[in-house]
Order: sequence, then structure tokens, then C-alpha cells
Amino acid sequence: MTITFIISQHLWLFFFFFFFVSRRRRRPLFLALDRFLEQVETRPNKAFIVFENKRFSFKDADRESNRIANALRVASVLRPGDTAVLFMQNEPGFVFCWLALAKLGCACALLNSSIRARSLIASVRCCRGASVLIASEGEKQTLSKELTGLTRIFITAEELRSSHMRSLIRAAQESSDADVPQTLRASVSCTSPAVYIYTSGTTGLHKAAVINQTRLLAALAVLASNGITDSDVIYVTLPLYHTAGFLVGFMGSIETGSTIILRRKFSASQFWDECRAHNVTVIQYIGEVLRYLCNTPQRTSDKEHAVRLAIGNGLRSDVWREFLKRFGHIQVREFYASTEGNVGFVNYAGKIGAVGRVSFLHKKLFPYALVQYDTERDEPVRNSRGLCVEVPKGQTGLLVSKITEIAPFVGYAQNEQQTEKKRLRDVFKHGDVYFNSGDLLKIDHDNFIYFQDRVGDTFRWKGENVATTEVSDIISMLDFVEEANVYGVRVPGHEGRIGMAAVKLMDGMEFECKETFDHVCRFLPVYARPRFIRIQSSVDITATFKQLKLKLVEAGFNPSMTTDSLYFLCEPERTYVSLTPSIYQQILSHSIKL
Ligand SMILES: *[C@@H]1O[C@H](CO)[C@@H](O)[C@H](O)[C@H]1NC(C)=O
Ligand SMILES: *[C@@H]1O[C@H](CO)[C@@H](O)[C@H](O)[C@H]1NC(C)=O
Ligand SMILES: *[C@@H]1O[C@H](CO)[C@@H](O)[C@H](O)[C@H]1NC(C)=O
Repeated sequence: MTITFIISQHLWLFFFFFFFVSRRRRRPLFLALDRFLEQVETRPNKAFIVFENKRFSFKDADRESNRIANALRVASVLRPGDTAVLFMQNEPGFVFCWLALAKLGCACALLNSSIRARSLIASVRCCRGASVLIASEGEKQTLSKELTGLTRIFITAEELRSSHMRSLIRAAQESSDADVPQTLRASVSCTSPAVYIYTSGTTGLHKAAVINQTRLLAALAVLASNGITDSDVIYVTLPLYHTAGFLVGFMGSIETGSTIILRRKFSASQFWDECRAHNVTVIQYIGEVLRYLCNTPQRTSDKEHAVRLAIGNGLRSDVWREFLKRFGHIQVREFYASTEGNVGFVNYAGKIGAVGRVSFLHKKLFPYALVQYDTERDEPVRNSRGLCVEVPKGQTGLLVSKITEIAPFVGYAQNEQQTEKKRLRDVFKHGDVYFNSGDLLKIDHDNFIYFQDRVGDTFRWKGENVATTEVSDIISMLDFVEEANVYGVRVPGHEGRIGMAAVKLMDGMEFECKETFDHVCRFLPVYARPRFIRIQSSVDITATFKQLKLKLVEAGFNPSMTTDSLYFLCEPERTYVSLTPSIYQQILSHSIKL
């Protein structure tokens, strides 16, 4: 191993200690906001945010946020330590408001700007004591009378709809842009909540993960540790109210002094033109974003851009390869982290499919382990002493990481029950406490670590665990398949669940029964092969991925429950056949053996 290799593997740790640990010792306390103020000193006139045709320098952002902070002070609705709710889309005002609140020593709850009525009220209740809500022009229609009882409402628009709202813009225009006294944030400590980020819960209502000041300080290092500097231009198309946009993109540019090209919403068709127009060098992705880019019509200019790095998570191997082939040499930094979790990995090596590499030092600092998981009972396997069992290399296990001072788990706001569910006790010793990530990962013999599945996304058939993403990766390799969603369905009289795939075909393509059969037999063990395939003409894009799966699981393989075409893997005929009501009956009566 060369020195550079060792350094690059541990770059993240290096930065972590350099920035985070040394800053944490500073007095008065060094906050993420202080890093922004340092940037205002060093590069006042440099572009900080570019949005549509507007450009704001670091100094502009400083002044704008001072005005907002001073307006809120004059209104005397917030005291240091209070929480305000931001209900805004991606726009410069979002950034200014956040900075203003940080200057006032207030925490900030970032609401998903797409949520409506019931969820909105639930989310506001979730961070009790939120005395102020700031919404942007576009969101004001959503605000119901009911909310007025809970909180004071400010709108970043001049025109207001009703008298229970106040215009923050008008107030800010009349306010001074003088610096906000630092004494206002004197009581902020490293354990004070800084932001609340809502993670969508399985129940549909939202849980707010608490990001405290320490966590925020650690987040600053993410982009910097990936070699991003002040000469970079970052394209932020992911929502600022969520982890990727806020903690990685926004905080990252505060740390590095780079420029953000902010976009209200991700658009696959505009993506590369905007990257070219602004000389973007760094892009961010989550889940499907890069797939959408690959699905746009090919253009001769596909490789003409200055993008050198893509950072994000949830990139599948097939899309990863396709993306590099199509758009040229771009370093992909796939990482694993969760908003509320206490351990993370970054793939610096560019090994396709992996989320990082396991290192001794990392494991020593953030003690984590992969433990055996019983997917049927949905809980970790316990040995005779009631403790968890670590899996050997090459096998999939549940990622758990010890809750320590350096790797704390803060939990969810106002939700002790959900918080407790994420704590796993008696893992390797009686009385120890680990964070249950709910994710299944695998470490290979070269120490690369791979994300396999969310816990709910694995099913068990014939005594074997089937990871749905692995199966859908295989099916997506077929060139007539655009997307495959894999899940397990119950069959009366059988233990576990049998594999089924909902498949969306490429435009103008047919489903090839024989080819699919040969393909799944070649790449998948018997128990993992989807016995049922459902051809979906359209995918309900309003539902989340989870909801979508749930609906599919409920619909099962009964041909009378859907108008979609269903196919059945028929062993004797060595092909997929149309799933007729007669075959369905024979399966239920067990005259067809599964
Ligand atoms: C925001 O809310 C919308 C509508 O409920 C949902 O579809 C979307 O997944 C949410 N986004 C995030 C990042 O949670
Ligand atoms: C916040 O951060 C500190 C580290 O400074 C940590 O020990 C603590 O558990 C965190 N959570 C809360 C709720 O303060
Ligand atoms: C992008 O780079 C080109 C070539 O270096 C330069 O001429 C152009 O002005 C840059 N555009 C922006 C928006 O910075």
C-alpha cells in the first residue's frame, strides 16, 4: 500500500479531525454560521448563490440575512433558542432565512415544501414550540387557518392573502442590514438543535431527525473531504429541506467557499445545458436522478461539460456504468449515510456498486458491525446468550453502530417511541446500545462494503433471503426493460414470500418471455427468480417508492385484481407464460408446485 492510498482512504477521517475536532474545541463555540461569516470576510464579492438570473455574493447573502434577522427582532416573535419552521422551495430566500435564524440563535425545522394540510400540521406539531413559520410565495396557498393557532406566519412575499400572515419581505426592506449581535447566540451550545430534517416514516407521517450543532459542524466537512474547493461550482437541484441538498450541498459550499447554482427543481432535460452555462464542476444525486439523466435522448454534446465529480447515494451498478459511458469520465463518490444515523461510508476508490471500503481505523473510531438478521421475524438473530451474531465476510447483515460520544444518536423530535425503536440493546455485551440502521450491507473479501437493501426490502423464500435490489439489478439488464421493482408476495399454504417483479418496458418494446426466463436462470438462484412478472404500463409517480411497493405487494398475483399483463415462470415449459385464471387456481390448490 502506498502512502497516498492510505491517505486517500482516510481523507474523510483526516478532515473530520482536522476541521471538526479542532473547531469543537474553539471558544466561543464555533458554529456552522461562523464558517459562513469567515467566507464573507475572505471573499465578500464572490458569487455564493446563482438562481435563475440572479446572482448573490457572500456579502449580499450576509446583508440580506441581516435584514431578515433584524426584521424578526423588531417583530419580537423569536427568542434565542426558539425554533422556527421554514416552509419553502429551493430559492435564495431559503438560504437567507436559514442564515438569519442562525444569527438569532434559533433552530430551524425544514419542512418538505410538497406536503399539504394534514402532514403540514403534523410536522409543525412535531417540533413543539415552533413559534414562527416562514413560508414562501408559492406555499402560502397551503396554509390553513388551523395553523394560525399553532404559530405566527410570515411570508416572503409582498402580497398577502389574509390578515393572519405578515410580509417578511416588506419588513426586511424596512430593516437595517447591520450585523446581528453575537450575544444573541451566546447560549447556543454544541448539543443545541440546529436543524430538524423530516424523514418520511413508513406510517406516512413524518419524523423529524434532530441535527444538533455538533452534527452540523461535522456535515461541513463532507464536500471538503471530497476535494471540493472554492474554485468549484456546485449544482444544487435536490431540495434544500432535505439531507442531500442541505447538509451536503449547502453546508458544503459554506465550508469550501464554492458557488451554488441553485435550481427550484431537478429537471433531466435542462440538466446538462445548465451545467454548461454555469461551468458546473460538481453535481449531486440521490436514487433515481442519474437514471433519469441516462433516460434522456442521446445528444452529441453529452460529454461536453466541466462536471468532474458526482456525489450522492443510491446509485445502482447498472446505472453507474451507463452514466459513465454516456457522460464521460466523472468521478462518482457514492456514500452511505442516513440523516439520523451515526456511521457513514464514502467510496473514494470509484469501485462500481460499493459505498465504501472498510478500514481498521474507521471501525475503531465508529464501532460498527454487520449482524445476522431474520427477515421473516424482522429482527436480529440472537444466540443462546441473547446477543447478536456478527456475519462473516461475504454475507449480508444488518448494519448496527455503537452509540458513543463521538458517534451519538440524537433521535427524533417529540417521538421517543420511534427513537427507541432505532436503539438496539444487548448487541455484543449485555447493556450496550447500538444504532439500528435498518439497512442490510455486505463486506466482500477486498473489504469493499455494499449496500444491499432496506430491512423491509428483503423477503424470505425456501429458507433463503432474497435482496430485492439485487434481483431488480439483474432484471434491469434486459434491454427491453426500463425499470424493475421487485418484492415478495404471499402464497396461501406456503411459508415466506415468493418473488415477483413489476416491470416497466422500454417504449415500443415487447416483453420477451423466453429471453427473460433464460436470463433469470443464468443469473439468479432458483429461490430468487421472480415467479411472477407484472407488466406496468405506467408507474404512479405521486406515490413514494415505499407506498408503491406496498400497493404492489397487496395486489399480489391475482389476475382478476389488475388489468396489467401478468406472467408466470413455468419450469416445465422453460419460459414465462401468461398467468391465466386457471393457472392462478392451480397455484392456490397446490396442483402447480412452487
Ligand atoms: C416530500 O413530500 C412529497 C409529497 O408527500 C413526497 O412525495 C416526497 O417524497 C417528499 N420528499 C422527501 C425528500 O421526503
Ligand atoms: C448533540 O451532540 C453532542 C455532541 O456534542 C452529543 O453528545 C449529543 O448526544 C447530541 N444530542 C443531543 C440531543 O444533545
Ligand atoms: C465558463 O468558462 C468559460 C471558459 O473558461 C468562460 O469563457 C465563461 O465565461 C465561463 N462562464 C461562466 C458563467 O463562468
